[in-house]
Amino acid sequence: MSDATIEALLAEGRTFPPPEHFKKQALIVGSEIYEEADRDAEGFWARQAADLLDWSEDWHTILEWDLPFAKWFVGGKLNVAHNCLDRHVAAGRGDRVAYLWEGEPGDTRTITYAELLDEVCRAANALVSLGVRKGDRVNIYMGMVPELPVAMLACARIGAAHSVVFGGFSSDALRDRINDAEAKLLITADGAWRRGQVVPLKQSADEAMAQSPSIEHCLVLRRTGQDVPMERGRDVWWHDVVPQQPTEAPAEPMDSEQLLYLLYTSGTTAKPKGIMHTTGGYLTQVAFTHKYVFDLHPETDVYWCAADVGWVTGHSYIVYGPLANGATSVMYEGTPDFPDKDRFWSIVEKYKVSILYTAPTAIRTFMKWGPDYPRKHDLSSLRLLGTVGEPINPEAWVWYWEHIGGERCPVVDTWWQTETGAIMISPLPGATTLKPGSATFPLPGIGADIVDDVGNSVPIPGGGNLVLTRPWPSMLRGIWGDPERYRDTYWGRFDGKYFAGDGAKRDDEGYFWLLGRIDDVMNISGHRISTTEVESALVDHSAVAEAAVVGRADATTGQAIGAFVILRAGFEPDDGLAGELRDHVSKVIGPIARPKTILFTEELPKTRSGKIMRRLLRNVAEDEVLGDTTTLADPSVVDGIKARYLAQQPAEE
Ligand code: WTA
Repeated sequence: MSDATIEALLAEGRTFPPPEHFKKQALIVGSEIYEEADRDAEGFWARQAADLLDWSEDWHTILEWDLPFAKWFVGGKLNVAHNCLDRHVAAGRGDRVAYLWEGEPGDTRTITYAELLDEVCRAANALVSLGVRKGDRVNIYMGMVPELPVAMLACARIGAAHSVVFGGFSSDALRDRINDAEAKLLITADGAWRRGQVVPLKQSADEAMAQSPSIEHCLVLRRTGQDVPMERGRDVWWHDVVPQQPTEAPAEPMDSEQLLYLLYTSGTTAKPKGIMHTTGGYLTQVAFTHKYVFDLHPETDVYWCAADVGWVTGHSYIVYGPLANGATSVMYEGTPDFPDKDRFWSIVEKYKVSILYTAPTAIRTFMKWGPDYPRKHDLSSLRLLGTVGEPINPEAWVWYWEHIGGERCPVVDTWWQTETGAIMISPLPGATTLKPGSATFPLPGIGADIVDDVGNSVPIPGGGNLVLTRPWPSMLRGIWGDPERYRDTYWGRFDGKYFAGDGAKRDDEGYFWLLGRIDDVMNISGHRISTTEVESALVDHSAVAEAAVVGRADATTGQAIGAFVILRAGFEPDDGLAGELRDHVSKVIGPIARPKTILFTEELPKTRSGKIMRRLLRNVAEDEVLGDTTTLADPSVVDGIKARYLAQQPAEE
């Protein structure tokens, strides 16, 4: 299909009902499940919890709701590792493959449920031997290797909470997260592979640990093989302490509300928030959504979520959801363009992937590379496609449907957040008629609405702020160490409703269309980065007096970081300094936060109360007509910046 045909198809408003061949085998085809959940949402979730999971003790209360604090399945006990591993092995499915792992250099590992269980038990015993106990926090900083899920499940087995830090984050970011959680143990690797180069994880871990007094030990996996210093008494090799452990380790029954993990995400201030997820409700909703949104047939499907475990998508849909459901998953260590731009499609062909879940940024990148790369491979095993992380533009949706899905696979656009723990707004592929670019409807048991700025529901059709209207099982239980910030950020804006931070609209048929963040959070390639975090990294550099950062529209990454920088006296703006500032941000936060453009300026547009008007800077960065400038203390400032912007053509990478 040519671009012109895609345009025409979109212009005529084509919708995509579930294909007949898909409906024939789909787990859900009608609307009864929505009606059932509407009648009694709590009862609905309780049935899912009982159906999908093994409990060692029943709950006495489904939900205790003391707004904004929720407890689900109160009194119930279960172990997450048991639910992800032991019960499948006990049911005779130990030989089923849990992970088809593909290393970036091309090495592979096939790991069955029985093997994964053994490895998790050994790792659990190793954690205990290193002094980790129920209730402790363990930091994990690794690449996409099988030992990463093993480490997470080992924590879950003994009741320690993990805090995984994405391997692309800097040592400073790791240090801050370790210190906030007061973790006892850090699990890392010598390095990770990325486009044939070594990312020196242990080196960053050493820098972080030098300023992290709570760390007692560091468990180090050998992956990339270069020499790394090992500190006596603190650092131990994985291969020295894990393999010789016994493969018996009790899966302690955990309280349903026991902390399973912390995962840090950017907020509107420079300090990231430690989002808390607990055990019973979380596992219920990730198992439910993974099964029904992906229409999972665990005996025959090969499922691949191409995210990184360091983000919530990986936690819920590479580790906990698929394993709880006994799925066979592909796990891939590297990037889509190494050694060539068809790596994803060679993986789909090689493992006969049937369900693929990826991000709009990746899809737009594949579009840019052109359809010849997927065309070189047999993708006929695919039967369902999914996307997550940012709004998907209809053109990218249709391209994905056509060139990857061969016009036969439904595309599920799934809206959710680190805070929601699991998918919230999404089609059910055998039941929902799709519209390219729309995440369609809230899932059964989920309450969502769109409200205006004073909290009134906006009638259909119409747009405003996306809110969630009732508690859900996998919701965050709070922000680690900061219950007030939890209340203010999510529940303070609209009375009794959860404010997601996203704008959305509903069309005349009630379909939800997500419009992106409406706070000072950017979404770069599906990664949340706060403007203030990047600003504070910039002003941390000795040359910078003041900085303002905006996310500007970018055809590939969704948004790109644009920085406006005022230099201190004595510093001259030039490309060299722009490069130095980019490197600095990369070092402080991580390469994902590297600004794409830097404009040196002498002033920034501010309101009379001194607040930087990022909206106007965004107009400048996107070369748009300037918005309302009447609230500015000095309206001429932005014209000056705009003129400079056009004259200077800011340094871009
Ligand atoms: C955005 C990722 C539109 C949204 C799971 C949200 C989306 C933020 C979608 C959460 C989607 C995620 N359509 N926008 N399907 N999915 N978002 O915490 O702005 O990394 O608030 O969780 O990503 O990002 P997070």
